[in-house]
Amino acid sequence: MSYEEVILDHWRHPRNKGRLSQPDAAAVEANPLCGDVVRIELKTAEGKVAEARFEGEGCAISQAASSLLTELIQGKSVAEAAALTDEDLLRALGGVVRTRLSCALLPLRALRKALAGLREGTPPG
Ligand code: FES
Repeated sequence: MSYEEVILDHWRHPRNKGRLSQPDAAAVEANPLCGDVVRIELKTAEGKVAEARFEGEGCAISQAASSLLTELIQGKSVAEAAALTDEDLLRALGGVVRTRLSCALLPLRALRKALAGLREGTPPG
């Protein structure tokens, strides 16, 4: 699928959108350029991301990237999720135009914040 097809597919049919009842980790990130926000929530079990959800208000790219990210990390170990690079997500999206990188990477910043909270034992907000 091309980049446009991936974005449209996830934007029209978002995966894992919503909230978890008792997440083990959660974080919100805002894009300072536009104010759009994405929230990522995780439930972990035996060192793995058992469930991932997202919620947000924003452009198609940020919402589609959030949907795709939840698919990428579900079932992975927490360490693998933490090791996910910007390039990994951009590659899964099929490449993103340079001017929209902050949109595409917004959910990854939220994920890293959520995982940092998990490591530090901060209760999810
Ligand atoms: Fe705000 Fe894309 S325009 S995240």
